[in-house]
Amino acid sequence: MIIRRSEEQPRWTLLRRFPVPRGFHAASRSRVQAGREWPAPEGAGNVKRMQVYRYDPEGDERPRVDTFHVDLDECGPMLLDALIKIKNQIDPTLTFRRSCREGVCGSCAMNINGTNWLACTRALDELDDPVTVYPLNNLDVIKDLVGDQSHAFAQYAAIRPWLRASPPPKDRERLQSPEQRRELDGYYECILCFCCTSGCPSHWWNGDRFLGPAVLLQAWRWLADSRDEATGERLDELEDPFRLYRCHTILNCTRTCPKGLNPGKAIAEIKRKLLERQG
Ligand code: SF4
Ligand code: SF4
Ligand code: FES
Repeated sequence: MIIRRSEEQPRWTLLRRFPVPRGFHAASRSRVQAGREWPAPEGAGNVKRMQVYRYDPEGDERPRVDTFHVDLDECGPMLLDALIKIKNQIDPTLTFRRSCREGVCGSCAMNINGTNWLACTRALDELDDPVTVYPLNNLDVIKDLVGDQSHAFAQYAAIRPWLRASPPPKDRERLQSPEQRRELDGYYECILCFCCTSGCPSHWWNGDRFLGPAVLLQAWRWLADSRDEATGERLDELEDPFRLYRCHTILNCTRTCPKGLNPGKAIAEIKRKLLERQG
C-alpha cells in the first residue's frame, strides 16, 4: 500500500539543531592533557596499561587521559571487567555505562584502541598495550566515557519504531510464515549501541538531519516486516536528500558493528524499495 506524502510537518524537523558538530568541546577545552598515573600494585606481574579519557563538563578542568596499570591476574577477562575493577578498587569517580555485561543492552559502547565496540565483549588479551579507552565520538560528553545519546534516540523515536497495523481479528494472532520471519534476520538483533552512527562521517557533519546507520537499519527492520501496513508512509518519511541520501556508502558502519550486522545493506534495501515504487 502506497500512501502519498502528507502535508504534515515531518516530526524530525522538530529535533534539536546543533550549531556545531556534537562532541566538539569549546575550543579552550578541546585539547586533551596528560592526566594522573595510577601504578600497578606491588608484585603484579601481568600488567596492562589502560589510558582512559576523563572529562567533567561541569568542572573547570580540561579533558585528560589517566593511565591505570591493571593487574590482569586479578581481573576478569574483558575490558569491562578492567573498568569495573578500576572503579571499585582504584578510582571510584570513573564514570561509564554498563548493564548486561554480555553484549545485549548496548550500554557499554565506547572507542577502544581506535575502534567502536562494546567493552563487555572485547577481551583484554586481544588488545595491544596500552589500551586507549574514549567515549563514542560525535556525542557530547556527559562525564568520562558516557556520551549523550538524546539526539540519537530522538532520531530513533522519529521513525516511529513500532508495528503500524490495524488490530488483528480477535480470535487469532498476527501470523508470519518462517520465510517472512527470516526477512528480519540481520536487523532485529540491533541493540542500539550506536557504534555505527558514531563512526559514520556523514552523521558527524549532517547529524541534525541525516538519520545515520543505526536508525536507518531500524527503519528497514519495520519496512521488512510482513505484518506492518505503513510501508508507503514509512517510505514517504525517509525519502529526503538528508534523512536517507546523505549516506555515501563508505561502510564504516558495517565494519564497526559489534553484533556483526550490516547497516549499509539495510540502507541499500531502503533505496531499492524507493526505486521500485518509482516504477
Ligand atoms: S555507509 Fe552510509 S551510514 Fe554507513 S558509515 Fe557510510 S555514510 Fe554512514
Ligand atoms: S547496527 Fe550494530 S553498531 Fe549499529 S546500533 Fe545496531 S548493533 Fe549497534
Ligand atoms: S554491558 Fe550490555 S552490551 Fe555491554
